[in-house]
Amino acid sequence: MGGALKFLSLAAAVLSPAVQSAVVEEAPRVPGAYIVELAEDHAPAILYNKLDESGQKYEHRMDLSYNLFKGVSFRLEDLKAEEETAKQIAAMPEIKQMWPVREYPIPDDKVVWTGNSQTPTPETSSLYTRQSSDNDTFSPHVMTQVDQLRARGVRGAGIRVAVVDTGIDYDHPALGGCFGEGCLVSFGTDLVGDDYTGGATPPVPDNDPDDCGGHGSHVAGIVAAQTNPYGFTGAAPDVTLGAYRVFGCSGSAGNDVLIAAFNQAYEDGADIITASIGGASGWTEDPWAVAVSRIVEAGTPCTVSAGNSGDQGQFYASTAANGKGVASIASVDNTQAPAILLNASYNVGNRSTGTFGWTDGTPSDWGNISLPLWSVNYNTSDPANACSALPDDTPDLSGYIVLVRRGSCTFVQKVQNVVAKGAKYVMFYNNAAGSTSVTAEVDGLVAVGMTTADTGAQWISLLSNGTDVVLNIVDPDSASQYPSTTDNTATGGFLSTFTSWGPTYELDFYPQFSAPGGMILSTYPLELGGYAVLSGTSMACPLAAAVYALVAEVRGTFEPAMLESVIAATANPNLFHNGVAASEFLAPTTQQGAGLIQAYDAAYTNALLSVSSISFNDTDNFVSTAEFTIRNLGGEPITFDLSHVPAGTAYTLAPNSIYPQEFPNEFTSQAASLSFSSDSVTVPANSESTVQVSPSPPTDLATARLPVYNGYIALNGSDGSSLSLPYLGVAGSMRAATVLDTRSSYLTSSTDPDFNPVPANTTFTLPGRNSTASRNTNYPSVAISLALGSPLVSVEARPVGAGGNATLGDIYGFPAPYNPRGATVSSWNGLLANGTLAPAGSYRLVTRALHIYGDESDASDYDVATSVPFSIRYA
Ligand SMILES: *[C@@H]1O[C@H](CO)[C@@H](O)[C@H](O)[C@H]1NC(C)=O
Ligand SMILES: *[C@@H]1O[C@H](CO)[C@@H](O)[C@H](O)[C@H]1NC(C)=O
Ligand SMILES: *[C@@H]1O[C@H](CO)[C@@H](O)[C@H](O)[C@H]1NC(C)=O
Ligand SMILES: *[C@@H]1O[C@H](CO)[C@@H](O)[C@H](O)[C@H]1NC(C)=O
Ligand SMILES: *[C@@H]1O[C@H](CO)[C@@H](O)[C@H](O)[C@H]1NC(C)=O
Ligand SMILES: *[C@@H]1O[C@H](CO)[C@@H](O)[C@H](O)[C@H]1NC(C)=O
Ligand SMILES: *[C@@H]1O[C@H](CO)[C@@H](O)[C@H](O)[C@H]1NC(C)=O
Ligand SMILES: *[C@@H]1O[C@H](CO)[C@@H](O)[C@H](O)[C@H]1NC(C)=O
Ligand SMILES: *[C@@H]1O[C@H](CO)[C@@H](O)[C@H](O)[C@H]1NC(C)=O
Ligand SMILES: *[C@@H]1O[C@H](CO)[C@@H](O)[C@H](O)[C@H]1NC(C)=O
Repeated sequence: MGGALKFLSLAAAVLSPAVQSAVVEEAPRVPGAYIVELAEDHAPAILYNKLDESGQKYEHRMDLSYNLFKGVSFRLEDLKAEEETAKQIAAMPEIKQMWPVREYPIPDDKVVWTGNSQTPTPETSSLYTRQSSDNDTFSPHVMTQVDQLRARGVRGAGIRVAVVDTGIDYDHPALGGCFGEGCLVSFGTDLVGDDYTGGATPPVPDNDPDDCGGHGSHVAGIVAAQTNPYGFTGAAPDVTLGAYRVFGCSGSAGNDVLIAAFNQAYEDGADIITASIGGASGWTEDPWAVAVSRIVEAGTPCTVSAGNSGDQGQFYASTAANGKGVASIASVDNTQAPAILLNASYNVGNRSTGTFGWTDGTPSDWGNISLPLWSVNYNTSDPANACSALPDDTPDLSGYIVLVRRGSCTFVQKVQNVVAKGAKYVMFYNNAAGSTSVTAEVDGLVAVGMTTADTGAQWISLLSNGTDVVLNIVDPDSASQYPSTTDNTATGGFLSTFTSWGPTYELDFYPQFSAPGGMILSTYPLELGGYAVLSGTSMACPLAAAVYALVAEVRGTFEPAMLESVIAATANPNLFHNGVAASEFLAPTTQQGAGLIQAYDAAYTNALLSVSSISFNDTDNFVSTAEFTIRNLGGEPITFDLSHVPAGTAYTLAPNSIYPQEFPNEFTSQAASLSFSSDSVTVPANSESTVQVSPSPPTDLATARLPVYNGYIALNGSDGSSLSLPYLGVAGSMRAATVLDTRSSYLTSSTDPDFNPVPANTTFTLPGRNSTASRNTNYPSVAISLALGSPLVSVEARPVGAGGNATLGDIYGFPAPYNPRGATVSSWNGLLANGTLAPAGSYRLVTRALHIYGDESDASDYDVATSVPFSIRYA
């Protein structure tokens, strides 16, 4: 189902008299702030002198004086003259490029569990002893063959991996216990300071990349955690880490900060740079993506998480992962669900019977209690247990711990329904592997927790025949804990439903490959419990970075394209899984890329492919023949049999809709067929051979829905090697697709929190250039709903009654290049793009959005929405 998108409230943003543009997507502009790239050999002074001469007030943000990026970021303080000044600056011959500063939030990875002060000791953890040998049994490592490299002593020694994130808690014993030379975290810096929150306040660097958020410490542990009581290590524990901190203790990071962090890490000699950060984009031209692409081009591989927006369907690539050459990392679910359980006991009938494990939630005022269990029903597969109001004959539940199955509706809804019957304590039982922290802050609820599906089923069976079950809970603050893993039989090894889908709007292949990111145990800042289980592509990305280190160690090169293609060629594609069940067809390459990385094969295969993927583009830009070479590094000839393994062809757009279909997409059984220049290729020793491949896209499809055909070229070598090369193409025209939802793009008012349409002929009284706006100033605003990304959006002010096409040109803030899809609201204070105020009078705002691959100068390549007439006057 497609449909309307929600608008982000602009309430806070309208305080400024300048026009604001709020993007629902994660990367809003910082008002007045710009990144400028200077042409060769020019110092930032040339820019600042110019601003001083013209009397402009500005605030310097960051020096970007790097080999691969020379410039500055700054913020204009006089927002009224911002656009005019910005245009003057952009026109200076010394300025190469100029972009607005956007900010990116800390990713919304799911917290499954975090530790507390009761950290298990080596004595209580069976995993501890297992891991202390070089027999690596940590499931994310087994899934990716990291265990096999570890068995050979490959641990990433001497390799420098930079982590761009919230910093690293280097005091943590499993993260080395110190910062600086000789430490695990041996390099890096804090580019922003604790108090930075993104937005207009400039960063205050401080050289101490400690972590108060937690995200970076979890990511760092996935790369290189040392032996610890929880029995795991990072995938490459002998690397040294660089901590490049780009977030304060809360808030977002500006893309100027992100560009600086990547360049600083590059210049500090990082061999690999990884960032589990992003925001919806879909365009390789985004400035942060451009900066990262240059670093890759210069020889340093960069891995960036693909994003956690799987629910948005296809074409939802995130920046900077979507940069050219940047490795975008998708997530698969762990085959084991790790949990650290609290130990408690229960009685059956009157007998103390046994112990059980559970996880604490929020709220958590358990105390030491013994209360009988009560369950809504005795059906352990009821999908909607307690999702609706409980029957009238439900007893008073205040003397019970209420047992509720997870699923269908939110925890809060379920808790509200049982609290309505007096419940104070709720114990969920899981409907998936493991156990997770529940947050359900509902008035009246004292404490909530969760136990495993097995334990829940055991109790239900007792309750169902009338046997009393009493739980003896020890308060979480004093309860003993133990690590436990359960097999994740439901989703283990399949793509995480949250992982974002590609490709980019210009059909760049995205994501590159996948790694375990769903339910990952790693380190966490000591103050936040020391260890945590999190889920997100943020967790997949650092494992991929570590695999780059291990493969580079074996192969003796960091060459990004080579590493990317060898990791892709040896990756394992998996079947599609919709979150409930697996399908019989492979998950699209737009979801899993080349598949799950297999580090050992990547390190040791003798056959290399010259590319990591193929895009056949769309029907207008159809690539009828693509070419790649197979290189044989070995001393014996290898014969490869080529075949085609199609994956699920997925429609992008919902039926009869201009909007992309939400997850899970509709699939069609039609696939492309591929023909090869030869079905069998013998590559001589230490030599290479070229293969041509020509696709015949599937026919009889609803081409207007932009079906993406995709799959793998399989190469089975006579040396036992088995490689695959992923591809994709669109059996339709991107240029023909509507990008602007003209029915949902309309005139609204900035003070309406719901952004409803305003009636025609509304008059808005604007403050004008020299008077100040008040909090309540109501600006005419244009709601723009992009069903797909648009390379260019303009909003023109057209005087009413001045004859057909008369226009004052764009309003301030437009035209806007490379827009992600989603809904935005931009208010207008009367300022035009050229810096002058539009005269008082009657206007329509005309929004024009250029189609993907559209010709800027061809009017028929734009979707146009014309607003109702309205009037402006100045106070
Ligand atoms: C590693 O440990 C696993 C599980 O304890 C065991 O099955 C396996 O045989 C061990 N492998 C080696 C090489 O010791
Ligand atoms: C839980 O606690 C009981 C009693 O203190 C103890 O016997 C049992 O070993 C503990 N269980 C685990 C898994 O630590
Ligand atoms: C359990 O306790 C109840 C009342 O306290 C008693 O009637 C019953 O016989 C007891 N059952 C067992 C198995 O001891
Ligand atoms: C719960 O009992 C433990 C001993 O088992 C004790 O140390 C702790 O203080 C008690 N907690 C509360 C909140 O009563
Ligand atoms: C109820 O079921 C449990 C286990 O399934 C069994 O141990 C118990 O004897 C049963 N009780 C009754 C009253 O049927
Ligand atoms: C697809 O074709 C368009 C138009 O030539 C081009 O701009 C774009 O880069 C192509 N995409 C890829 C992935 O090559
Ligand atoms: C708006 O004003 C114009 C010009 O005065 C008039 O033609 C039109 O009917 C008005 N529209 C509405 C909805 O009142
Ligand atoms: C606004 O102020 C500037 C000087 O600060 C002046 O030149 C200009 O005329 C004023 N404009 C209006 C509309 O009052
Ligand atoms: C408006 O623009 C269209 C297309 O650019 C042109 O054909 C038409 O003549 C213009 N009308 C007026 C009144 O200028
Ligand atoms: C800006 O555009 C408006 C409308 O086209 C025009 O009247 C005005 O002269 C322009 N101002 C400048 C500084 O170019």
